[in-house]
Amino acid sequence: MKGIILYRSQYGSTEQYARWLAKDMKLPLMKLEQAREQDIQSYGLIIIGSNIKVGHIQAAEWIKEHWGWLKEKRLLLFTCSGSYADAEEQKKMLENSLPAEIKDAFQYFPLPGRLNKDELSFWDRVIVFLGSKTVPDPAARERMKHGFDYVDQEQLAQLREVVKRFKQVLI
Ligand SMILES: Cc1cc2nc3c(=O)[nH]c(=O)nc-3n(C[C@H](O)[C@H](O)[C@H](O)COP(=O)(O)O)c2cc1C
Repeated sequence: MKGIILYRSQYGSTEQYARWLAKDMKLPLMKLEQAREQDIQSYGLIIIGSNIKVGHIQAAEWIKEHWGWLKEKRLLLFTCSGSYADAEEQKKMLENSLPAEIKDAFQYFPLPGRLNKDELSFWDRVIVFLGSKTVPDPAARERMKHGFDYVDQEQLAQLREVVKRFKQVLI
């Protein structure tokens, strides 16, 4: 059996991690929205990468929709966000995005993302602006106000080790 990376990214940070991981681990990668059951059926390990918006893992709807056959696979999930280091916040976002049966089937890796305010669409700028008013943590508020870039290949170290172990078993 083999592994594949499926990713969903709007502004490129999740895609960057997916590409680094694919290159390091010599795994194929595909945009989540293009992945059809017949393309993926032969893979034993599915690694899903997703951006986070307004507390929601953006790949969650796709995961729920395809759960019928995904549940037979070994599953890893990595996300890109601004609050990657806040374990409580990560837990909340995971629970808000996926029902318990599904979230518990994934090994989860929250990674630090990037927010470049110049790149944002008009509505995303509005959402980030309004969101920054309601975030209680002053550091998080500052990050949302000015943007951030924490994307770093080294952040993949833990995930890479897990994938390596799966590859030894599965390939
Ligand atoms: C409209 C919008 C809403 C966001 N909401 C959150 C959020 O609720 N929590 C968080 O930690 N990060 C949030 N972020 C930050 C993104 O998760 C971060 O920029 C991520 O790296 C984007 O991934 P991408 O570059 O693959 O699209 C938000 C970003 C945008 C543009």
